Amino acid sequence: MHSELLIVESDRKTRDLVSAFLTYQGYSTTVLSEKDDIFDTISSKPHRVMIADLPTLLARTPDILSKAWETSPDLVVIAYDQPDVGRTLPHNDRLLFIPKPLNLDELESVVMRAREYQALQVNTGQPSTSEDFPHFLCSTIIGRSRQMLSLFEMLEKVAESTATVLVQGESGTGKELAARAIHQLSSRSSKNFVPVNCSAIPDELLESELFGHVKGAFTGAYANRLGRFEMADKGTLFLDEIGDMKANLQVKLLRVLQSKEFEPVGSPRSQKADVRIIAATNKNLEELVSTRDFREDLYYRLSVIPITIPALRERREDIPLLINHFLGRFNHDKRRLVKGFSRESLEILRNYNWPGNVRELENLVERMVTLKENGFITPDDLPDRYLPCKETPRSVPSAPVTRTAVDEDLPLEGICLNSAVDAFENRLILQALQRTGGNKKEAASLLNLKRTTLIEKLKKKNLQLDQ
Ligand SMILES: Nc1ncnc2c1ncn2[C@@H]1O[C@H](COP(=O)(O)OP(=O)(O)OP(=O)(O)O)[C@@H](O)[C@H]1O
Ligand SMILES: [Mg+2]
Repeated sequence: MHSELLIVESDRKTRDLVSAFLTYQGYSTTVLSEKDDIFDTISSKPHRVMIADLPTLLARTPDILSKAWETSPDLVVIAYDQPDVGRTLPHNDRLLFIPKPLNLDELESVVMRAREYQALQVNTGQPSTSEDFPHFLCSTIIGRSRQMLSLFEMLEKVAESTATVLVQGESGTGKELAARAIHQLSSRSSKNFVPVNCSAIPDELLESELFGHVKGAFTGAYANRLGRFEMADKGTLFLDEIGDMKANLQVKLLRVLQSKEFEPVGSPRSQKADVRIIAATNKNLEELVSTRDFREDLYYRLSVIPITIPALRERREDIPLLINHFLGRFNHDKRRLVKGFSRESLEILRNYNWPGNVRELENLVERMVTLKENGFITPDDLPDRYLPCKETPRSVPSAPVTRTAVDEDLPLEGICLNSAVDAFENRLILQALQRTGGNKKEAASLLNLKRTTLIEKLKKKNLQLDQ
């Protein structure tokens, strides 16, 4: 049991259904009717969420909301979405709506959104525990799928050791979040977490960036400079995009990993390195090892504990949870009142392939909240690329389209040409960007496009590769 939900409903059938459903979901519930003394219940035992038929309730007890929020400031009230209800109430983050007729999936997602809101409040105060918010790790990583729950366990276990970790996964799956969680859960959490993006720093600067330099080590080295290894002393160094590290630096990094010592550029003296290393890449390092683009010995040193974050399409049950999380956050940040995604639009997004993973989903929700401002997001609001193809005579599931369409023959049941072409294009663009470390000019040249055309496509498709 992880939450106290108060259900205020005079219709017994609805009351029983809602209560049974939420109890089954693991919430502890209290059930009242509008005639009961609700305020008495709230003041005797703090509740987290109240689900109520608000107009009826307000008609009986007009000041119920202000009184309730006085005693339980983070109480979230979920009201049925009825015409005019929103208009009579102040804009309030603690007020959420659920469409009528009641749909249990939607109810669950709104209750989760209420919990997200509370988690955010807790984030600003005391840290939450994962037991309190069972779909969270470190209040940042969200997931309820089997894969994510075992990832949470793995991250917690790994945090206890100081072994080097290699985090792999497609772009936007949450590799950096995972690295930060390991640091946060470790005994090093009071020291620095220092990220270095190996692909964003020019090769000639990376060595001094990592190890520091002494004054006069090279032209322009006017003073001693602290490297990231030293900044991460007794903390964690996050070597992001490690697959892009050039051969000469790979040798130097290997030496540091072996000897636990490093030398600032131009310094004859070596320094001790008490640093926990977490490396990440969205490239296939084993493949790079086989093509001799990555040193095998370094690969083994780094992958003492290998962790792979699954692609979002491999854990679709996390999609609604993530959508709700981002919805709550963007509504809050942008002062919007978007109530949610309609069932149809949720279904479409659940079946989409998500080549850009959680980052793509986050960007989509941000865009929807910005454009929509209020109400429910329907399939008409979604950009075309998310919509299943309309012109196919039979419905073609959207998930396999990306893979099969480009590599294989026309499937027996037919194919949606437009979405297959679109998915093929997205895949090649993302691959080109990945291969060039996000450099749009080089990626455009790989694709034989003008840079501006590529940029236009990225914008239109809402595709991006974070660096
Ligand atoms: N499980 C998750 N729960 C909540 N937010 C997530 C989750 N996974 C990813 N995100 C969000 O998605 C975005 C991308 O995450 P992150 O930067 O960790 O991905 P990445 O794997 O490092 O991506 P890249 O390969 O492009 O560097 C971030 O804004 C992050 O907060
Ligand atoms: Mg990253």
